[in-house]
Amino acid sequence: MMANADHTRARELRAQIAHHNDRYYGDDAPEISDSSYDKLVRELRDLEQRFPELVTDDSPTKVVGSSLNSSFAPVVHARPMQSLDNAFDDDDLRSWVERLDKSVPGEALTFTCEPKVDGLAMSLTYVDGVLVRGATRGDGTTGEDVSANIATLASIPRHLSSEAGAPPAMVEIRGEIYMAKQDFADLNARQAAAGEKIFVNPRNAAAGSLRQKDASITATRPLSFFAYQLGPSEGATGQWVPATQREVLDQLKRAGFSVADQVVVVGCADEVVATCRAFEQGRHDLHFDVDGAVIKVNDLSLHRVLGSTSRAPRWAIAKKFAPEEQHTTLLDIDISVGRTGRVTPFAVLEPIFVGGSTVGVATLHNEDQVAAKDVRPGDLVVVRKAGDVIPEVVGPAPGQQQRAGRGAPWAFPATCPSCGTGLVRSEGESETHCPNGRCRAQLIQQICYFASRGALDIEGLGEQRVAQLIDAGLVNSVADLYELSSEQLLTLEGFGDLSATSLIDGIARSKQQSIHRVIVGLGINELGPAGARVVVRAFPTLDALSQATVEQLSALEGIGPAIANSVVSFMANTDHLEVLGKLMAHGVGVTEETTSALPQNLLGKAIVVTGAVEGFTRESAEEAIVQRGGTSPGSVSKKTFCVVVGAAPGASKLTKAESLGIPIVAAAQFTILLETGVLPE
Ligand code: IVH
Repeated sequence: MMANADHTRARELRAQIAHHNDRYYGDDAPEISDSSYDKLVRELRDLEQRFPELVTDDSPTKVVGSSLNSSFAPVVHARPMQSLDNAFDDDDLRSWVERLDKSVPGEALTFTCEPKVDGLAMSLTYVDGVLVRGATRGDGTTGEDVSANIATLASIPRHLSSEAGAPPAMVEIRGEIYMAKQDFADLNARQAAAGEKIFVNPRNAAAGSLRQKDASITATRPLSFFAYQLGPSEGATGQWVPATQREVLDQLKRAGFSVADQVVVVGCADEVVATCRAFEQGRHDLHFDVDGAVIKVNDLSLHRVLGSTSRAPRWAIAKKFAPEEQHTTLLDIDISVGRTGRVTPFAVLEPIFVGGSTVGVATLHNEDQVAAKDVRPGDLVVVRKAGDVIPEVVGPAPGQQQRAGRGAPWAFPATCPSCGTGLVRSEGESETHCPNGRCRAQLIQQICYFASRGALDIEGLGEQRVAQLIDAGLVNSVADLYELSSEQLLTLEGFGDLSATSLIDGIARSKQQSIHRVIVGLGINELGPAGARVVVRAFPTLDALSQATVEQLSALEGIGPAIANSVVSFMANTDHLEVLGKLMAHGVGVTEETTSALPQNLLGKAIVVTGAVEGFTRESAEEAIVQRGGTSPGSVSKKTFCVVVGAAPGASKLTKAESLGIPIVAAAQFTILLETGVLPE
């Protein structure tokens, strides 16, 4: 029997995973470690396995990851760029090998063991040996066209070398864009000297550098590329049709690509386990970050036999490396108040070098986590950096709990350190909140968030600046920013003519930002950048959004009841409405995005277009839908209103539509659909 609690937990997990996907892929700014993320996905997968009725089409266990948040043109991959299943320990590796042995009995399997380079997957297309396109993985089906950016990379050959033989008419080469450790350190030093953004780790630096709108910035960034896979090809002959993964790598090398030279071929589960262990021990000697090893069946003909699940191939697995751990002293436990009023305890640590950087603070998540870990100020604690992203305190070091003179367990403060209001922890919730909607600490964070890069992108509004503006009585909401003058700023300490003018200019410029960024900037709980785009398509003005109902919102593709409720309750708050009114009066977020004069007869309807529709390009067909209030997502789900099928449609979209019973509309009837908003007979 499935309990209600399981249902709720699955929903929670899905929302959390979607949120972290947005942070990781959309913003290049992860909030949790890879291992904590993996744990969430694993818990969801376990639940779904026990109760298959919990599986949804858009479950992150089936979908590869990233929702697209981009100004790059979409590229539909000729074959999906899948993810890899993970092995967390030796047993997982052994049972994977055992499963394969059973699936292809009588085969003496061999495997390649490759370093799992921690960067971002890239697909390169060569036509007649000439580089024509580079695309990111995106959501696995559709990536982003970053051709202009990758064309600036010295490590990507423009022409396939003739040493590899006559090039195929078309060939796709897949691999990883990464930043070498030293290049990362040098880049951060340059960024710091120029007062620019410091990157958390090489992976984020690589992602941020690649996805620059201005490719000349990418050109200045030290990006490298390792090739590891041959994708779809046409007209391949000779050496371009290798029989094994080892031969693939050799051929890629001949063609002019860098290939990781640590790759080895092994023959049994024991050797796989031993090689992974050796890789793990040697990880710090490599000039690039690795987060694991990838083991692949060497014989490519078996790849076709073994096939894939919807998410990952069966012929490969990633062995995740154990996160690096260190011991240090817990100096204190403090709390911070976030923009939504959530109060988070964090550990103040004796600074310690772990997983490639120095750590001085680490989140402790919530009250229960502190209690469960039983860490107390003065303890020697274990600090871990998983996936080299966010550090975490694992627990007290061995023997600490028996330590003489150990302090009492830490008690969560009763009042907000900023405004003194009593903190609230609701029954059944793990989080503690400051309920005061006008709390100074929350306001500081809200304004910083509003000004952040993913939102209004106003430079020069860090925490200290914002606190200064609030304390001087100049700013009491994000809307007040638009009333600031240079004269006012000049009365404040630290401002000169230049900094005052540049802040005022930055604020004025932000009025041109598109409305979805303004919505992101409002910091509505649960609503990330991807959700904001969806919402804006259906409700293209702040005014329209403030009147949306839960039913209308949750009918939108990608918007669940939790997000819908959160938007509606945000809009029901009179303080928020006042701020929105002021923003609109200042002309913020009113410039752009479908002020369509057309009848909104597709409002809230998700219409997938596949194949060529006569009289339309892919973009103009999508635009025609959006202009009428609909959305045009790249994949079919239960919420899809209908699928418009043109010439040479995508087979997977059709199959999925059929299996879900989604209506199919012939391309010839697309105009009728646009004009009437109802399914043609
Ligand atoms: S093979 C079907 N080989 O790891 C997927 N991936 O977690 C084929 N990665 O998306 C991928 N090093 O970005 C492969 N030697 C390697 C890799 C590698 C890093 C990344 C890649 C992939 C991710 C999966």
